[in-house]
Order: sequence, then structure tokens, then C-alpha cells
Amino acid sequence: MTRRVPTYGGYLRLDRILDAQDPPDFANLAPGAPLDAAVRRRLHHDEMLFIVVHQAFELWFKLVLHEVARARDLLGMRMVPSMKVVPERDIPEIVAALHRVNEILRVATDQFRIVETMAPTSFLAFREAITPASGFQSVQFRELEILAGAEESRRAVADGAFAALLTPDEARRLETRLVEPTLRAVLFDWLARTPVDKAFPDFAEAFARAYERYADDQAEAVKANPFANDAERKEALEKVAAMKAQARAFLFKEDREARLASRAFVFITSYRHEPLLRWPSALLDALVEFEQGFRGFRFRHARMVERMIGARPGTGGSSGVAYLDKTAERRIFGDLLDARNFLLDPARLPPIPEPYVFRFRFDS
Ligand code: HEM
Repeated sequence: MTRRVPTYGGYLRLDRILDAQDPPDFANLAPGAPLDAAVRRRLHHDEMLFIVVHQAFELWFKLVLHEVARARDLLGMRMVPSMKVVPERDIPEIVAALHRVNEILRVATDQFRIVETMAPTSFLAFREAITPASGFQSVQFRELEILAGAEESRRAVADGAFAALLTPDEARRLETRLVEPTLRAVLFDWLARTPVDKAFPDFAEAFARAYERYADDQAEAVKANPFANDAERKEALEKVAAMKAQARAFLFKEDREARLASRAFVFITSYRHEPLLRWPSALLDALVEFEQGFRGFRFRHARMVERMIGARPGTGGSSGVAYLDKTAERRIFGDLLDARNFLLDPARLPPIPEPYVFRFRFDS
């Protein structure tokens, strides 16, 4: 018997992938009839582009989900149970997974340029035939939002109209996503476990004072600014005064876990130049970049949509660009961005009492 060997097309299941660009014409289907019974309408020339680009995005979403799930697992689910710590060697692995995700988002977002090679009038030639289908119904996109930790998306999938569209397999996948830990949740648990107070007793108070000195210097600079008028100066001074209160509120949150996580974030980011904090700070940077990439995808999609259909409503029933611009404002790791308000020039940082703890060599 000849041994079956892998072939290029067989390994990649190209027979299945490349046979999936021909849409059935749902208008010809009797209610309840199997999809195979649909009469195929002729593809509009540009509809091939429209379908392939969406399919390519769904493949990228699949890989992104795979990588984000790995980052989440390593950060939150494969800890040494007795110690409740993430094995140190896993941090670079998590960063690598997130870097891959960020590159995919960057390259995939660029693919909206390919959609823009289609004339808006060509899209209108087949838009009615595909209504009410919409990217809004992308289950993988919702899975990704939920896995990352976006609260709004949980509400979106709970909506009856959305749930009614799901196949049993999609419903099961979403149910699993809704109960499993999110990347955001495991990140904040990890941050809350970071032993900042052990390394730097009273770090929060020392940092808050350094920040207040900085805010006072900022106030002096505002007063001395010859280019600001009185109203601008007043507004800037109020803002600087508020910054002081906001920094204290951030570092001294009432909720214990949230307080520890905020402190760890400021600590790791501020002392990122210490060798042992390099990987943790690279992890935080990768998450901030993920947030940017995800929002960048949404913003870029909205601009492409504006160019394609103007301000008309979407095929999925939303207000269109207005809806998309609103969702592009959503943040998953917004706290990490808020905390950027409170970072300082390294020269202003309170010195770590025993900095050698964070160095690779103890004798330097
Ligand atoms: C001519 C091209 C496109 C147009 C005119 C368009 C239009 C729209 C509109 C108007 C919405 C809002 C929901 C609705 O009412 O339908 C939407 C949502 C969405 N579209 Fe597109 N889209 C296009 C291409 C794409 C492509 C190539 C992707 C890639 C996967 C995509 C992914 C999405 C996603 C994920 C949503 C949900 C966004 C959210 O809820 O924040 N779209 N699209």
C-alpha cells in the first residue's frame, strides 16, 4: 500500500478554502430550504475582492485569537500553584505572542487599502444583495473583544438579535469565551501580585510626593509662560492642580487589588531601565500597543466605510460611520493609558532603596 504523503493543497485544505468565494443568492431561497438549494447569482467582478478580503481578515482573527489565548494562558492559568507566580521564562513568551498579534493587526489593518481600490459605486452594485449581512456579525471579532476583556462586547452578544444569528458551534464558542478569564483580568491579577512594597516600602507615597513636586514645577512654568493669555493660564493651572489629586487617587484606590495593580503599573513603567523590570515593562508596552492596534483597526475601518458609503446606515442596521466612530473610542486597557498621566522624567523619580535587587549582577 502506498503511504499517503502530505501535499501542498491537501495540507492547507485548499479545496475547501478556494471553493468558498461564491455566494448563494439568498433571495431565491424558500424559508427553511438548505443553502445548497440556492440559485447562485453571478458574482459582481469586485465582489470577489470583497469576499476574499473579509475571509482573509477572518483567518487573521483566528490566528490573533490563538495568540491572545496563549498570552492569557501563560499569564494567568499556568502559574506554579503553590507560589501563584508566573514562571519567569514565560514572560518573554507572552511578549512574543503579543508582538505577533500586534504585527498581524498592523498588517491586517493595512488591508483596508485593498478594499478602497473598489469604487463606491461598484460596492453599491451588490450591497443590496448582501443586506442584512454585516461585519457586525463577525463572531470571531466578538470573541476577540471578549477574550481581551471589553465589557461592552459582552452586552452586545447578549442581545437577542445577535444570538439568533449564531450557529450552535458559534454559540458554544461565545459561551466559553464569556466564562473563561480575560486577558485584562489575568493582567490585573498579575500586576496586583507584583511585590512592589517589598522592593520599595512606601513606594506610593514617595512617588506621589515626587509627582507633586513635578506638578508644582509645571504650575510655575505655566505662570511664567509669556505666550499664554489669562484665560489659558487659569485653565492650565486648574489642570495641573487636578493632576495632583488624580495621581493620588490612582495610587491610593480604595479597592485593594486595583490599588496594587495601579502601583505595580507605575512602578514597572517608571523603573523600566532596571534590568529585571525590562521584560515586565515590555509586556505592558505590548499591551498598550495591542490596545492601539485594535482601536487603530476600528478607526481605519470607519474611515474606509466613510469613503465607501458616506453617512448612510450600515447593512447590519446600525447608524454606520457614527456607530463605528463610537466603538473606536472603546478601551480595554484604558487604565494603562490613564496611568501615562502620572509618569515622570527618570531624574525626578525617588531612588529605589536597594536597586541591586533589580540588577542581573548583585556585586555592582
Ligand atoms: C465596503 C466595505 C465595508 C463596508 C462598507 C463596511 C461597513 C460596515 C458598517 C456600516 C458597519 C457597522 C455595522 C452595520 O450596521 O453594518 C460595519 C461593522 C463591522 N465591519 Fe465592516 N465594512 C466593510 C468592510 C469590512 C471588512 C473588510 C472587514 C474585515 C473583517 C469588516 C469588519 C467589520 C467589523 C468587525 C464590524 C463590527 C465593528 C464594531 O462593532 O465595532 N468590514 N462595517
